[in-house]
Amino acid sequence: MRLDQFISTSSPLSRKEARRAIHASSVTVNGEVWKDTGKHIPAGAQVLLNGKQLALQGERYLMLNKPAGVVSATLDSEHPTALELLPAELIELTRNLHIVGRLDADTTGLLLLTTDGQWSHRVASPRVECPKTYRVNLSTPILESTIEALETGVILHHDPKPTKPAQVKVLEQQLIELTISEGRYHQVKRMLAAAGNHVEALHRQSIGDIMLDPTLEPGAYRELTEQEIASIG
Ligand code: URA
Repeated sequence: MRLDQFISTSSPLSRKEARRAIHASSVTVNGEVWKDTGKHIPAGAQVLLNGKQLALQGERYLMLNKPAGVVSATLDSEHPTALELLPAELIELTRNLHIVGRLDADTTGLLLLTTDGQWSHRVASPRVECPKTYRVNLSTPILESTIEALETGVILHHDPKPTKPAQVKVLEQQLIELTISEGRYHQVKRMLAAAGNHVEALHRQSIGDIMLDPTLEPGAYRELTEQEIASIG
């Protein structure tokens, strides 16, 4: 979408006023002042008007407390899907609603959904390195050597590139909090397997500054606050 069109669609400004604001250096795209009104905004860009982040009006941003046994997909003939947990009217009204950062069927906790492709791109973008924190139940007590390996980086099965250093907080002998900034396939389970342990249960607590709302029962959802939406990127 053109920059002037984006500004006039996502703020109270008319197209003419949007052009004026752009010429007056009031608009930044990914931290740089853009003065070309017709330039196209790349996917995932962060657009600020006078320092305030803009999002296309009508976009929806939700958090869901995903229960176990639900798949992170729009459609699945065999299993219930995360989208099926939402009211049918909401799905009908918001045709572009999609899941941001999938969880395995047996993983519980914070799942984000949005209609805003640029926002979800920023959440998932390796460039942004949005940290994700998981509570991990382990099959055996954690060893110092395992913590050290996770905090340094481990080599996953069938993946020669070491993982980026993770943060480990030991809550109990068989319960840790693990924070990672990548999103490889089954990453947490594979990291623990590579470091000599095994994941018994996995629960996502946060993505960036967005924490799973403790008042949400499994299967329940709520809209994100403006502050939560703006905290990404
Ligand atoms: N890592 C995993 O192994 N599974 C998830 O669902 C999320 C992260």
